[in-house]
Amino acid sequence: MKKYIIANWKALPESWAEAESILDFLSEHLAEIPDEASMVVCPPFVYLEEVSKILQASGLAGRVVLGAQDLAVGDEPGQTGEVTGAQLANLGVRYVIIGHSERRWKIGEPDHVVNQKLELALEHGLTPIVCIGEKVHDEHFEQFLKDQVATTFAGLSADDIAKCLITYEPVWAISTNPDAKPDSPDETRKALAIIQPLVPNSALLYGGSVNKSNAHEFLSMPETTGVLVGGASVRKEEFLEILKAVVQ
Ligand code: PGA
Repeated sequence: MKKYIIANWKALPESWAEAESILDFLSEHLAEIPDEASMVVCPPFVYLEEVSKILQASGLAGRVVLGAQDLAVGDEPGQTGEVTGAQLANLGVRYVIIGHSERRWKIGEPDHVVNQKLELALEHGLTPIVCIGEKVHDEHFEQFLKDQVATTFAGLSADDIAKCLITYEPVWAISTNPDAKPDSPDETRKALAIIQPLVPNSALLYGGSVNKSNAHEFLSMPETTGVLVGGASVRKEEFLEILKAVVQ
């Protein structure tokens, strides 16, 4: 069964040379990447165009699909510093991460903005990779997830929700946070069981400290359609091991 392995490069790497070397490495090792791995690479905006060119011109064409990490909340030109859905779509971007916790919590992006971005992404034919997850895993976490799903998808039709890849990504599990540790597969199953009935036709993924040691556990869960990988996605040797874990 095909599973998504989505690389969220975040604000890495620092130079184009390093970014190019990740793609060169994947291209050189293409024969080792199982067909079951459906790869999406989401580089920072500044590299999108070059990554797009490389994907078209290299052996990665048809194996890696281009994603973005965010999009502007509207299509109008008066949005200094933003990148619109139309611009992304015209560049060949097919997926877009929306509602990542680093935007929700560090930048203060509210649920209604996440919701507007979702609508815009769908209008432009981009597949949203929507991040959902509690900040603190306490006795309120179940209610938190339900509320976040409700506000994130408010007003969207069932058909539109079904087009989204919904990633359960508990904030405390993201590797850049202090004391981060991956969720346990059992706890992930419980969280997915809370989310699933609210979005019954959407693909569900897991994200949060996915690495070469735990990737297989998350990828082999019948409840998941893939993983969202942050830090480990720019460590090229480790990312290759994660890709291979789809069939381990
Ligand atoms: P991580 O990040 O794999 O480094 O924990 C995941 C993410 O933030 O999407």
